[in-house]
Amino acid sequence: MDIRIRNEEEKDYYLVEEITREAFWNLYCPGCSEHFMAHELRKHPDFIPELTFVIEVDGKVVGSIFYSYSKVIDVDGQEHKTISFGPVSISPHLHRQGLGKRLISHSIEAAKKAGHRAIFIGGFKYHYTLYGFEGAKKYRVSMPDGKYYAGIMALPLFEGALDNIRGSIHFSEGMYPDNKSFEEYDSKFPYREKEIKPCQKEFEKAVSEIDEQNY
Ligand SMILES: CC(C)(COP(=O)(O)OP(=O)(O)OC[C@H]1O[C@@H](n2cnc3c(N)ncnc32)[C@H](O)[C@@H]1OP(=O)(O)O)[C@@H](O)C(=O)NCCC(=O)NCCS
Repeated sequence: MDIRIRNEEEKDYYLVEEITREAFWNLYCPGCSEHFMAHELRKHPDFIPELTFVIEVDGKVVGSIFYSYSKVIDVDGQEHKTISFGPVSISPHLHRQGLGKRLISHSIEAAKKAGHRAIFIGGFKYHYTLYGFEGAKKYRVSMPDGKYYAGIMALPLFEGALDNIRGSIHFSEGMYPDNKSFEEYDSKFPYREKEIKPCQKEFEKAVSEIDEQNY
């Protein structure tokens, strides 16, 4: 396999969104909207194109990762710029072959080189602990509702990056696009059946799980 990682270009947009749709379809809810998130995020001021990568296998794009600015608002109201990734996806027929790991690791290295402070993400621990992510609770960063959720994780990108910060993480509004044009947008992709699946229940449970770990 000839593997290459490069920044996303305009010519990749449709394929990247199609792969994102394929990877997320029926995974966390019936259907999915992560491809729409990618589509809309590119237009948002928080979007970080220089950290947004595609991964190619033998010259064909098979996955992507998107980054945007987020911020930690300190208990005294001070804002600290952080970054977040998502959606991240690999074509389902190529899962568990190390491609996601290559792509995510590459993006983390690029973020470090660019001097960013820390990455905050939401997701399943089993996807991200291998990169050094730990519960944001460890760094005394909660969600805006003051709760420490197990699925909210952080990775400081340099020594002591989160040492003197205590507050809440605010993801970009670009990650929560207005769904009113979603149906029309989604109709340009091949028809797929929306289904209810057990993994969606697991996700529902996971998003509200409180981090009980003592760091
Ligand atoms: C998440 C995703 C990008 C990972 O890509 P991938 O190429 O399959 O991942 P890799 O093969 O590089 O996996 C690296 C490691 O991550 C962990 N991992 C990845 N997928 C996992 C899964 N479904 N269950 C448990 N662990 C998993 C494992 O530790 C794995 O190492 P291993 O295969 O040696 O056990 C891909 O599965 C995907 O597109 N999923 C659908 C979309 C999604 O859920 N995105 C993340 C949203 S939070």
